[in-house]
Amino acid sequence: MTVTRVLIRAGLLRDLPAELPDAPQRFVVTDRNVERLLPPSLAGLPRHVLPPGEASKDWATLGELLEALAGAGLQRDAQLLAVGGGVVTDLGGLAASLHRRGIRWCAVPTTLVGQVDAAFGGKTAVNLGAGKNSVGTFHVPDAVLIDPGALASLPVPELRAGLGEVLKSAVLSGEALLADVESVAPAELAAGGARAASLVERCLAVKQVLVARDPFDEDARQLLNLGHTFGHAFEALSLRDARGARDVRGGGELHARGLRHGEAVGLGLLCAARLAVLCGGAPGLEARLSAALRRWELPVTAAWATDEVLAALVHDKKRRADGQLFVLPEAPGRVRMLRAPQERFVRAALEAVAPRG
Ligand SMILES: NC(=O)c1ccc[n+]([C@@H]2O[C@H](COP(=O)([O-])OP(=O)(O)OC[C@H]3O[C@@H](n4cnc5c(N)ncnc54)[C@H](O)[C@@H]3O)[C@@H](O)[C@H]2O)c1
Ligand SMILES: [Zn+2]
Repeated sequence: MTVTRVLIRAGLLRDLPAELPDAPQRFVVTDRNVERLLPPSLAGLPRHVLPPGEASKDWATLGELLEALAGAGLQRDAQLLAVGGGVVTDLGGLAASLHRRGIRWCAVPTTLVGQVDAAFGGKTAVNLGAGKNSVGTFHVPDAVLIDPGALASLPVPELRAGLGEVLKSAVLSGEALLADVESVAPAELAAGGARAASLVERCLAVKQVLVARDPFDEDARQLLNLGHTFGHAFEALSLRDARGARDVRGGGELHARGLRHGEAVGLGLLCAARLAVLCGGAPGLEARLSAALRRWELPVTAAWATDEVLAALVHDKKRRADGQLFVLPEAPGRVRMLRAPQERFVRAALEAVAPRG
């Protein structure tokens, strides 16, 4: 299996392609918002620019990207360079794994979610229907090049959303990182300085350790799903609502702004912490997580009634024979996996974020 080279340095984006592994041919995939961050040194490369947002992580957009790769005559030894957030690296990585049965690729994550999580580890995906990440491959990038300076242009709501994913890594890591993360302000991350670089590095290290132990997500890596079992249900509902909004407008632009991935993970973390207590764990963590999310102005209440979220969770569960896996955070750095908890506990856990009134 390929070992991914990880480099974290402010200004790295400017230095591309010098830091990239050699390749006879390169192709850039990015999105419209990130395109303007590309350094002039990449200007001569063929590129495909996606419409920004989760709606691009779909089958049709994947097909367009594959057509573009084929149209550019990309050979088997070519390198795909995915520059952008998790949408670009998930979709780009999947296209790289499919074009001519697999070409090499490198990720340059430009969002906080991408830098601490999505770009590393080789999980690629698109969404199908209401199902998040239902089609994908494992295709490990040769390099993940992280420029914390890229966070400076990231819209503040995206930066805040990334803190949901940062919080997940911190809970998995333990008290030291959690305490540090709790005290961080979005502005410090936007500054892209030493504190941002250090936090990104330490959060990513949590993932690096788990992926090294379990590259194909059969065991230890599933701990990274902390907050995601609930989170994906919120995300699926949000995607469904956003799709509805587009349909009403007859296939026009996607106007309804759903939950961002990191926001859904934040809500999912609160439910997971409540579930941990319901299943016999000590209280305390849920209040800490909730306080952090509030301070970062991230949602702590879902827009959907508990029954609706439960239905979305059950829909997801139907795809697994042995019931859904929940990761329960019992204390900072202490989590355990629980397969198929009783539905009444899951329902009660969802009450942690149920709409008021
Ligand atoms: N493969 C994995 O292991 C993994 C892990 C976590 C998340 N994900 C996936 O990642 C996706 C979410 O990623 P995301 O939060 O990065 O969303 P995203 O890729 O949609 O990016 C968020 C927004 O920020 C814009 N943007 C990106 N970088 C920018 C910059 N530097 N300056 C200005 N604008 C910028 C984008 O155009 C987009 O509008 C989800 O689909 C999720 O499932 C995958
Ligand atoms: Zn995630």
